[in-house]
Amino acid sequence: MTNLSVNIKSKEISYPIYIDNSDISKLKTEIFNYLGGKKYLVVISEKVNRLYGNILGFNKDRIFVLKDGEKEKNFKNYQKILERALKMQLTRKDAIIAIGGGVVGDLAGFATSTYMRGIDFIQVPTTLLACVDSSVGGKTGIDTQFGKNLVGTFYQPKVVFINSNFLKTLDERQFKTGMGEVVKYAFIEKSCQCEDFGLTNFLNENQEKIFACETKTLNELIRICVSLKISVVEKDEKEGGLRRILNFGHTYGHAIEKITNYKKYTHGEAVVEGMRFAFNLALKKGLIDKNYAFYAEDVFKKYNFQKIPSFNPEKMTEIMKMDKKASDQSITFVLPTDYSTVDVFNFTEQELADFCGKA
Ligand code: GLY
Repeated sequence: MTNLSVNIKSKEISYPIYIDNSDISKLKTEIFNYLGGKKYLVVISEKVNRLYGNILGFNKDRIFVLKDGEKEKNFKNYQKILERALKMQLTRKDAIIAIGGGVVGDLAGFATSTYMRGIDFIQVPTTLLACVDSSVGGKTGIDTQFGKNLVGTFYQPKVVFINSNFLKTLDERQFKTGMGEVVKYAFIEKSCQCEDFGLTNFLNENQEKIFACETKTLNELIRICVSLKISVVEKDEKEGGLRRILNFGHTYGHAIEKITNYKKYTHGEAVVEGMRFAFNLALKKGLIDKNYAFYAEDVFKKYNFQKIPSFNPEKMTEIMKMDKKASDQSITFVLPTDYSTVDVFNFTEQELADFCGKA
């Protein structure tokens, strides 16, 4: 088992992240050891409940099953979770446990952070995307008709249990969406201010084993990505500065998800297209040379990310203006400046239109 920890010194917050591939049937005991008798509500993905519900063995009365899909990360389900917790009479001393992918973690985390002004939260990510990114760092939220994650909180979990055995039943597309975030970490790793990087080399040397979902390789892949994320989050929990680099590919990516009604493309697919957009902007701005842009395209192709056709630029700009990262005057993009290095740039609407208009 690998044991990492997040330490946010300014708030005296510290929590462990366990990366493991022990039998899934042992998870409940590990969680119960953590709960120490607290009452709990488990928010679990429908698919995970179908595949692992019996093995996990939680009492059915304490389970809230959430249908799968980004569309479920909404106000209605947020309200339902809170009402369920109230019906169960969970108190301030109790806990909510999220078992599933990013949608479950973000939604359950948001409900937990506002229930009685915040109770204990435990993350059990079951998708690659949630293991390498969304279960760590405390971002919670829901989507609205105005955009993705526009309502939410920063609320750190008490513990994260990552068990790579869950990844064995991911379908190809779910695995690919996680690889979208993994590839993002490779393109930003030198900017993460983490001593222990080497994701780009690891990806180059282990592609076949990753595709074959070899347990040891996946655990190491998760360890590297989580270490990069921890390094960033510890320095900037609330995205005032450094943490913005984690949004590489996300400004345009979120707009793709929104314009296609969260149905057509997965988060990872949209983020990869967002990275393509960022590489293009960086090229036009003279931040990088063509070789790096070609190299990036090779990486995207290696992981089977097809190009997504472009959308109406005015509509995309309108959506991107609603992004959390935008201000009245500008839209923020994280752009590559060198191999595995990125920086944050602001564009006015006009600048963006000029850059996008240039062939
Ligand atoms: N997924 C980006 C972040 O946690 O900041």
